[in-house]
Amino acid sequence: MAATIAVVRERKAGETRVAATPDSVKKLIGSGFALVIETGAGTASSYPDADYLAAGAVIAPDAKTAITGADLLFKVRSPEADEIAALKPGALVVALLAPYADKAGIEALAKSGATAIAMEFIPRISRAQSMDALSSQANLAGYRAVIEGATLYGRALPMMMTAAGTVAAAKVFVMGVGVAGLQAIATARRLGAVVTATDVRPATKEQVESLGAKFLAVEDEEFKNAQTSGGYAKEMSAEYQAKQAALLSEHLKKQDIVITTALIPGRPAPKLVSAEQVASMKPGSVLVDLAVEQGGNVAGCQPGITEVGGVRIAGYSNLPASIAADASNLYARNLVNLAALFVDKDKSFAPQWDDEILVAAVVAKDGEVVHPSLKGA
Ligand code: NAI
Repeated sequence: MAATIAVVRERKAGETRVAATPDSVKKLIGSGFALVIETGAGTASSYPDADYLAAGAVIAPDAKTAITGADLLFKVRSPEADEIAALKPGALVVALLAPYADKAGIEALAKSGATAIAMEFIPRISRAQSMDALSSQANLAGYRAVIEGATLYGRALPMMMTAAGTVAAAKVFVMGVGVAGLQAIATARRLGAVVTATDVRPATKEQVESLGAKFLAVEDEEFKNAQTSGGYAKEMSAEYQAKQAALLSEHLKKQDIVITTALIPGRPAPKLVSAEQVASMKPGSVLVDLAVEQGGNVAGCQPGITEVGGVRIAGYSNLPASIAADASNLYARNLVNLAALFVDKDKSFAPQWDDEILVAAVVAKDGEVVHPSLKGA
């Protein structure tokens, strides 16, 4: 008998994404699974029940009915207590579990006996690129950050020469050039802005330049070693951060839109823009801080929009949710690709637990928290 995957409506406030789309349902059924979808699970991402039904899913009247008896639960965010309670013993739960921020949630999943996979821990190896939900979602967040910034900014982005006079191009500065930052640069360039960017990883310099933007950073010895083998940034020394702040002060004064995306896995977000630097910016300029959930890159940033001396600081904690249909589609594709590791050649449910991707991403199993970076923390 085919293993059953349950997908339920996300309960977390503001979470409009869903872990399966009609297209992913079709693909998962093709891989040997059966799908049960809670009624209305896709409504907020514009995927109606009828389309899931047509794709071959069964529609359940509520979350409990969907989850009870399922072998797997696919979610965007961590399951709530009542969802965990409905799980069959040993069920496999896959979601963005926020493993560093929500240790209690991981503990609760472990205690329930579920096997839990944190999508954040999918390793950054080429085989796993199609399963990398951090990247698929960060890409959309980077795009959306520019759109939000452009909307808040009271002027145009491209240069325009009109009979009534010339409109100057906006200056956009992207701080943190990972997946989100690169997409922010590309989007701002397409909109006609003059774009500069900074990061602490040397590899980003060439990437920034290849997108037609100018790179700006303190390129000392510490900078040359700032990338971990996993491709992430290290936390920089206080000395480096002071040098970085001094370099950026003059630059920030002249910027119209600043997009910050700087993160260090498992650590609070680095503080990149001080209150003084915010105060030095022109009235009408905008800072969009994508790191607000990790404490923010910009001093004074809070969830929502804060105005300081005519400068607006926007703290968006879940931008992918504002582009839910695409974000759900890419996330659901990430799960389809991961699910290939849960079946054998005959499409029978047989997770390949010794595969390096699952070894890296399983956080709870057999009643215990098993991930080395979470154990004993
Ligand atoms: P992230 O979301 O963890 O961080 C965003 C950016 O902030 C990073 O580029 C980081 O270097 C930067 N940052 C950290 N501290 C900073 C500071 N003090 N000042 C300025 N910038 C700072 O990173 P993300 O977007 O998840 O990816 C990082 C990189 O990983 C990617 O650019 C890519 O090269 C690599 N990657 C590799 C993949 C693969 O090989 N399968 C898949 C996805 C990404």
